[in-house]
This record gives sequence, C-alpha cells and structure tokens, in this order.
Amino acid sequence: MASPLRYADIYEQSIRQPERFWGEAAGEIRWSRPWSQVLDVSRKPFCRWFVGGRLNTCDNCLDRHVEAGRGEQTAIIYDSPVTGTLRKITYGELLDEVARFAGVLTGLGVAKGDRVVIYMPMIPEAVIAMLACARIGAIHSVVFGGFAPNELAVRINDAKPKLVVSGSCGIEGKKTIPYKPLLDEAIRLADHKPERCILFQRPQLTAPLIEGRDHDWATLMREAVPAPCVPIEATDPLYILYTSGTTGRPKGVMRDNGGHAVALMWSMRYIYDIRPGEVYWAASDVGWVVGHSYIVYGPLLMGCTTVLYEGKPVGTPDPGAFWRVIDQHKVSVLFTAPTAFRAIKKEDPRGEYLKKYDIRSLRYLFLAGERLDPDTYHWASGMLGIPVVDHWWQTETGWAIAADCMGIEPFPIKAGSPTKAVPGYDVRIVDPRGNPLPNGQEGYVVIRLPLPPGCLPTLWQDDERYLEYVERVDGCYLTGDGGFYDEEGYLFIMGRIDDVINVAGHRLSTGSMEEIIARHPDVAECAVLGVQDALKGQVPIGFVVLKSGVKRAPDGIAEELVQMVRSELGALACFKQCAIVKALPKTRSGKILRATMRKIADGEPFEIPSTIEDVSVLKGIEEEARRIGYAKGAGV
Ligand code: COA
Ligand code: AMP
Repeated sequence: MASPLRYADIYEQSIRQPERFWGEAAGEIRWSRPWSQVLDVSRKPFCRWFVGGRLNTCDNCLDRHVEAGRGEQTAIIYDSPVTGTLRKITYGELLDEVARFAGVLTGLGVAKGDRVVIYMPMIPEAVIAMLACARIGAIHSVVFGGFAPNELAVRINDAKPKLVVSGSCGIEGKKTIPYKPLLDEAIRLADHKPERCILFQRPQLTAPLIEGRDHDWATLMREAVPAPCVPIEATDPLYILYTSGTTGRPKGVMRDNGGHAVALMWSMRYIYDIRPGEVYWAASDVGWVVGHSYIVYGPLLMGCTTVLYEGKPVGTPDPGAFWRVIDQHKVSVLFTAPTAFRAIKKEDPRGEYLKKYDIRSLRYLFLAGERLDPDTYHWASGMLGIPVVDHWWQTETGWAIAADCMGIEPFPIKAGSPTKAVPGYDVRIVDPRGNPLPNGQEGYVVIRLPLPPGCLPTLWQDDERYLEYVERVDGCYLTGDGGFYDEEGYLFIMGRIDDVINVAGHRLSTGSMEEIIARHPDVAECAVLGVQDALKGQVPIGFVVLKSGVKRAPDGIAEELVQMVRSELGALACFKQCAIVKALPKTRSGKILRATMRKIADGEPFEIPSTIEDVSVLKGIEEEARRIGYAKGAGV
C-alpha cells in the first residue's frame, strides 16, 4: 500500500518548512477553531504548536468517526486470555461509555485542567477513563500497574490529582494482583490526598470501598448523564506520563492536545501505513507511552480497530498467543518490544506454533522500546516474511524519531538500525561538547529544535528540569542515547549515555534503585548497573559495600536489598542479584567507575582507566560478580 512518495523530498520539506509541513498535516484533524500560528518559538527553547487552535482529542477519536458512519465498526477488541474474555466495543458504544464516564467525572467535581491518576490493568475501562478525561479537558496520568505503592505515591504527590481511577486487581499470567491495597497504601504514603477514588470491581477479585472517599464504577455509570466534548486549546495538556530519569524522581512528561493529535495521525499513515477500518495491535500496556500513543490515541484518531490484549507473549497459554490473536482478529500491523519476540523465540525457536495459524493479514511488524538485536531481527523476519521494522523513540517524543516509514518510501532494512530520521526530526550526532561528528563516528544523538508536534513541550510544572534536555548542546534536544550514522545515512542507536536502563522494554533508573538500597542501615555505598540479559535485554544488578563493623551474613543482607527494591519500586524492576563487595572502583576524584564495572560483569574486554584510584578493587568486583553468575569473560 506504500505510496510513490519520496522520503528525501518529504524529509527535506519537513525540516526546511516545518510550519507549512505540519500546517498541512493538521488538516486531518477536526478543529473547533483554527490556529493563529502553527509554530510559536517566541519563548525559545520552549516551542508550542498550533497556538490559538481549539479541538478536542476525544472528539477526534470518537464523535467524529461516529458522525462519519463508523458507529457500528469495532473500536476496541478486548482480548484477555488471562480471564478468558473476548469483548468487542463499537465506536458507537465506546462513545456512549466515554461520554457517560465523562459525566461521572464532572459530577464528582472534576473540571478542565484537574488531574486524574489512572492506575488500572489492561481492561477497556482504562481506555474509557483516559478518553473521558480528554473529553472534559482533565489531564490524565496513567501509572503502570506494576509499580509499587511508593512509586504511585511519588506520582500522586507530583500530579496532585483530584481523583484516582483504579481497578480492583490486575492479572499477571496466573497471578491475581490486588490493586486496591496498593492504592490505599500509596494514598497513605502520599502527602497529597486525592478527594475521591473510583474503583472498577473486577469479578476475579473485588475490594472493599472506603466510605466517603471511594465510589463504585458500575454504580456511578448506571446513573451517569453523558457529558459533551469541551473545546480545548491545542497547547493545553492532554496528559502527564511519568518516566525514569537518572534520579529517583521521575520526570512528568507533558503532552499537549493539538500537536499530539496531528503527529499521531500523521504517524499512523506514513510510518505504520495503516488506514481506517484496519486492525492495529500494539502489544504493550496502557501504562507506557507505547500504550498511550498506539493502543489508545493513534489507532482511534485514524478510525482503526485497536486490540487491547491482557496477556503475555508466552504462557497465556503458549508461545502461539500472538499468532492466535493476529489470526482471530485479522491484525494488519503489530507493534511490540523485541523482548516479546525473544520470549517467543526461546520457547518456540522453530516456529511450530506459527504453523497452526493463518497470519496472512499481517503486513508489518514494528518493534521498539529497546535496541532490536540482529539475532531477533533475523529470526522474526525469517519466520514472518514481512517487513520487520525497528523504530526508535522515547516517552518524551511520544512517537518515532527514526524509522523505516512504510507509508512513504521503504528502504532496505539493515539489522541493528532503525533506518532514517522520521520527517520532522533533525537528528544529529555530536561529541560531548556539541561539535558535529562525521558518519561512522559514535557520539551523543541530539535533535535540533524545534522538536516536531507531539513531543513534550515541557515537563509538568517543571520548566527548569525541561531545560536539562536542551541546555547541554546549543539549539538541540539531548535524547540521552548514543549512536552514529553510517555512510548511507542509516542511524544506529547503541544505548543510553546516562544511568537509564531498559528491562524487558521498560525504562528504569539505576539511580532510583541506588536510592532505595542506600536507605538500608547496613549499606555504606552502592552502585546498580544494567547488565546484558538474553531475554530482557538488560537487568539491573547491585554492588554494595557494607558499613564497617557489620557482622551479619552478606547473603541475608543481599536478600533484604532485593526485597526492598521489589516492594518500593516494583517487581517490574527485575532486581534479583546483589553482590556484597569490599570497595567500589573509583577515580581519584571519587567518581564510581560504572562503565568499567559493567564491562567486567558482562565479561567484555576493558581498559583499566588511568584515573583509577586502586586497581586491586577490580579483582574483588570480578570475583563477586562471578559468584552471582556474571563476569564470564577473560578476567581482570
Ligand atoms: N502489574 C503487576 N505486576 C506486574 C505487571 C503489572 N502490570 N507487569 C509486570 N509485573 C511483574 C511480573 O509479574 C513479574 O513479577 P515476578 O518477578 O513476581 O515474576 C515482574 O513484574 C517482571 O515482569 P516482566 O518483565 O513482564 O517479566 P515476565 O518474566 O513476567 O515476562 C516477558 C517476560 C518478556 C514475556 C515480558 O516482559 C513481556 O511481554 N515484555 C514485553 C514488554 C512490552 O510490551 N513493553 C512495552 C514497550 S512496547
Ligand atoms: P521509553 O521512554 O520507555 O520509551 O524508553 C526510551 C529509550 O528506550 C530510548 O531512549 C532508548 O534508549 C531505548 N529505545 C527505544 N526504542 C529503541 C530502539 N528502537 N533502538 C534502540 N533503543 C531504543
């Protein structure tokens, strides 16, 4: 279905004439008032798109399609192997439910600009709550269900929600996870107390409500009066999504309404090459940016059918789960993380389960969230025989920075590269001082300002912290990734240049784990590193120095530290290994040599830094790393 468009022409126009380019793209969105200015850079480095324009994102996702005759088309396929549920919701039904839940919210005093935290599993009610917020101009902040109460409390304190919407439980494979006690504990820990909570009671596990604070979703919905769409300024926030920075304090990435709708609509056509009426499936979670952009907003803006899958790639019930969903629902485009494919490959390397299903509807597989290793790329592409497209992006941008744009001019794919910069993104490689680097040389990956529509205009109520992205390299946004261009202009993303790691496609901060470990009374200092893992890409391991005089058995302390990270950050951190060492390797100025430690743990060759204070410390690191199953290389 690819168009005869030329990438070079489109890209060139998007960079030279961004206002013209995005002004035209904005024609695909329904506005209640046109913008007066496509791009406002008067407060550089803060850039705002479609200033003066008014629209409603929910109107563009639902009302507009129903008015155009899509009312009977399925909007959401909720496929939940973990509960044995299959539910199809048409655009007409979804509009009705969203409008009524919007009425519930306004009835409880939620108004435009108020924040609503959504802490829910992968059920349609999570999507309904998000769209209902968008309908009345409330700002949603979805928190991934795998986060522990403390992390939820941190987000509640920052977003200061008027109300929290939650579900009674999540279902993770065979485990039922009660959410309500986690929510109650988070509210107990938080300084900000939301006035009300709405709880969706799942039949698998219901939870008691706290009188005066908690309300039952179903009871409220029975009496609800539908609320109309409120016109929203293009520059008003649609949502806040917290993501890991380098410290324990997460960053509240803010998304506006206008630029977001325009960019996602454009991406659906030109990156994913999908049309209204087709089935789009992002196998992710609504708690992550992929879920926001490509389970909820992108597919619904485009008038597609979106699949909401509550299950895993393996074990629910077997490694044929993805092929079953594609076959049963005639999925055209699948988007997931490489780790999901590694999990399938591990259990079914020869693709025996694939043979049981007809997946001819599938035109493309898109992968993102972490580096797509060439092995996984070759396996997936050999199995499926369709384009397997690696694309690179991050919570901050909200949509792909680099991709092989299937709706423009597909390029031959090179394993290990997300191909080329997407139109709108002027991606450059620079050295630490901001000087441009030639092709072939690895450096910091930056994007020249302005960022295209859809990217974060700032961090929630924290312009100061936003400046950290843009002040290091003049006129550029620092992505936090390192990489290079090859001679043919293909971009390669090699990994983070900061302390952010990627565990099974989930972005985590090693700094936040170190902050938790440092609170243990026996710990003097520690370093958490992301080491290679065949399934999850990376997993964190800790190196801990105990205070002098501590007599307790190191193994017992290590176990306590593992438990602390699990209960304070969440199981999703996958922090399972901790080595107790005598000292951490440091430079003479006291900086911990994390890169060297990581190489030792990964068994990679390394050079002993000339600035090291005491070389003998490295031996101890290697021995302890080996004891917990790492450092299998040549040796110090
Ligand atoms: N609520 C509560 N707990 C959760 C959770 C949630 N929503 N999601 C994950 N967890 C828990 C898991 O139960 C597990 O706990 P455990 O240590 O007690 O077993 C832990 O967090 C780690 O979860 P996960 O990383 O999902 O590991 P897994 O072994 O259960 O599954 C994969 C491995 C590869 C199958 C899985 O990570 C996967 O499907 N990844 C795809 C990732 C993805 O879609 N990323 C989004 C970007 S596109
Ligand atoms: P998140 O904000 O959770 O989406 O994580 C973003 C980070 O994941 C990026 O900064 C990269 O480090 C990494 N990442 C995402 N997609 C890719 C990709 N296709 N290739 C390499 N790294 C990726």
